[in-house]
Amino acid sequence: MKIVHSIEELRLQLANAQCPSFVPTMGNLHAGHLALVRQAKPLGDCMVASIFVNRLQFLPHEDFDSYPRTLQEDCAKLEAEGCDLVFAPRESDLYPQPQTVKVHPDASLGDILEGHFRPGFFTGVSTVVMKLFMSVFAGKAQGAAVFGKKDYQQLMVIRQLVKQFALPIDIHGSEIIRAEDGLALSSRNGYLSETERQQAIELHLALRDLGRQAQASAHALAEHLPALEARALQDLQARGWQPDYLTVRRREDLQIPQAGDALVVLGAARLGKTRLIDNLEI
Ligand code: PAF
Repeated sequence: MKIVHSIEELRLQLANAQCPSFVPTMGNLHAGHLALVRQAKPLGDCMVASIFVNRLQFLPHEDFDSYPRTLQEDCAKLEAEGCDLVFAPRESDLYPQPQTVKVHPDASLGDILEGHFRPGFFTGVSTVVMKLFMSVFAGKAQGAAVFGKKDYQQLMVIRQLVKQFALPIDIHGSEIIRAEDGLALSSRNGYLSETERQQAIELHLALRDLGRQAQASAHALAEHLPALEARALQDLQARGWQPDYLTVRRREDLQIPQAGDALVVLGAARLGKTRLIDNLEI
């Protein structure tokens, strides 16, 4: 497995690849990331993973500086999974100048839910993913990239980006990997204290309950949903969480659902200082 830092080295290493497969990450890899790598491996002739903590997608008060950086351990895990090439750019490699040209996703998708509570987040994600795609796939007729469904809205934003820019990249979603108690794996779980870790499953349980109630009201969903969502929010608050949203949306575009739509329940909430997200297709 080769480890490269600059876009030039990356392109050199990929010169003979016809159809790379790619998993972008911010490092601090856990079983969820490794599942993405396993899914990506057979999708191309050279499996590339990137490790880059992208400043553009963090708000000023967020955890950019403290985000765990564990490059050596990450590379060992990637090598064990059969990854061929790691792209671990320094900030100056990916952003040699301030990145003033950016990709702004459609507001109807990019400014709701995560985008509402983390303004600019999806612009930061779309911009870095576009740059990573251009670094890995430039000159290739075809490629594949795998993203986790844990970041459900992010996966939708990336699908839209690829479609709108006609990029020859197949985007694959990977199922959420959960701990034994059901907590979705996330690098940010490492911030939880022992007590918080025990309590963290409550977010998933709240989504499951909300999903069940939504299904029970499927005949008049639009009418019942605001009250169901408000109650779910209050219940989680009463347990000491600070929820941003708990909501049932149409899977297709994350808009308010109507009876008969395929649904996804999504939530984001802070437990102490840690902000967790989760979702559930129902
Ligand atoms: O999901 C992530 O880890 C990041 O948002 C991504 C896609 C690597 C872009 O920085």
